[in-house]
Amino acid sequence: MDFYDLVRNRESVRDYDPDRPVDGVILNRILNAGRLAPSASNRQPWTFLLVSSKDKLEKVRACYNKPWFQQAPHILIIIGDKTKSWIRSYDGYNSIETDLTIAMDHIILAAEYENIGTCWIEAYDPKILSDAISLKENEVIFSITPLGYQNKGYKKLCNKQRKPLEEIVKII
Ligand SMILES: Cc1cc2nc3c(=O)[nH]c(=O)nc-3n(C[C@H](O)[C@H](O)[C@H](O)COP(=O)(O)O)c2cc1C
Repeated sequence: MDFYDLVRNRESVRDYDPDRPVDGVILNRILNAGRLAPSASNRQPWTFLLVSSKDKLEKVRACYNKPWFQQAPHILIIIGDKTKSWIRSYDGYNSIETDLTIAMDHIILAAEYENIGTCWIEAYDPKILSDAISLKENEVIFSITPLGYQNKGYKKLCNKQRKPLEEIVKII
């Protein structure tokens, strides 16, 4: 698929077929796109936690109470280790959130390429999520996404609402 078509076609999917898990080979390709993402000083301060088992899914699903989220056969959580990420010497800025966000975006675009639906989710309950996966003190999460195919008859919205380029680009 043409890269610009891919970017245009990707949209947040809020419909998942619970009975159609994604093949391991495809999941590996998608996760490998995240592995190849850039990170500050190439620290790669991340772990990609793919939740696919019934008991773990049950625990993690409790963090975000939307019916469609409960249906996803996989939930991906990108965990960062803030002791491993790069820190700017001038002001102590820690690149962890940027690093994890880039990895997630690589994964989400790769999933689109594989016709697998995703949706960035930030509105989860962080306490429920961190308890569900026993997050350690040095670890952080900024976003999660379901991964999965859509139910039969699902149609994309194809209705990107975006500001025009003229409004957001400044050339000086
Ligand atoms: C940082 C971030 C957090 C988001 N959190 C949620 C969320 O908690 N729940 C949800 O349904 N969508 C969430 N979204 C999806 C946005 O609503 C969506 O990306 C935006 O409306 C644009 O639509 P599109 O992704 O279909 O192009 C989030 C997106 C981003 C980038």
